[in-house]
Amino acid sequence: MITITQQACAKINLTLDVLGKRPDGYHDILSIMQTVSLCDSVQIRIGTGKPWEIICDQPGVPSDRKNLVWKAAEVFFQEIDTDPDGLQITIQKRIPMEAGLGGGSSDAAAVLRGLNRAYSDPISIERLAQLGGSVGSDVPFCVIGGAAMAEGRGERLRSIPAMPPCDMVICKPQFSSSTPALYKKLDEMTITHRPDQKAMEKALENGDLWGIAGNLCNVFEPVVAGEHEEIAFVRKICAECGAMGVCMTGSGSAVYGIFPDKDSAQRTKERLINTGIQAFLAHPV
Ligand code: C5P
Repeated sequence: MITITQQACAKINLTLDVLGKRPDGYHDILSIMQTVSLCDSVQIRIGTGKPWEIICDQPGVPSDRKNLVWKAAEVFFQEIDTDPDGLQITIQKRIPMEAGLGGGSSDAAAVLRGLNRAYSDPISIERLAQLGGSVGSDVPFCVIGGAAMAEGRGERLRSIPAMPPCDMVICKPQFSSSTPALYKKLDEMTITHRPDQKAMEKALENGDLWGIAGNLCNVFEPVVAGEHEEIAFVRKICAECGAMGVCMTGSGSAVYGIFPDKDSAQRTKERLINTGIQAFLAHPV
């Protein structure tokens, strides 16, 4: 039996624009994504000699083929045309779920990377990312990590310079939002404020943290904030504690702030936790 452990990092969207609906029902997006240090831990046991099993320390996580990690393992073994003779995947969850932080996608990506490592890398990283595309739109990015401009459904990636080291706070308000429902809402309205992707890319190239913080923009945020005042509340606390910039990630409900130093990030985290909001310190990875 082989045991492999992989870290599964959360992702944030520094920019997120939705360009339009496609014939296949998905939407074309343009988004700059970055992986961050907040992570799950995924342990894979190959060759257990028993039926496939998923174990998670959090309730509400599917333990069958509905879980993206199961799908990821299936596509991997199909690709290398091998039967693992039993598989056990144990997920230690730290990334909040239904938060726009790509937790499920990142766990699936960790399984793809972990299995590939266990079999001495038979699949190139590019092909591994491509396989991830059949598991979920954010999985290819989570396979590669760092910073990238994502296009198409989110699966077409171009690596770009990562964020410079900085202190961030990631907050998870108590409500969750449904990704398909949000896309549907956007279809029915006119987007008035879109991210300046070029300015964000330039700021990343220059390692300009103020430029990055000033160009954070997610077209889903006004839609979610219009229905849930917690978004404005989190923004207010971050601003009062000295955030350089604040933005919702993905389809929410998580919101992150970029801070000039660790002290202000720590203060923000404590204030949020005192009001009952989950909050984590993080940095780009
Ligand atoms: O690919 P994933 O499973 O993450 O997508 C979840 C849902 O989000 C899709 O079923 C679709 O309704 C919506 N979606 C979309 N366009 C994208 C990504 C997701 O419409 N680019």
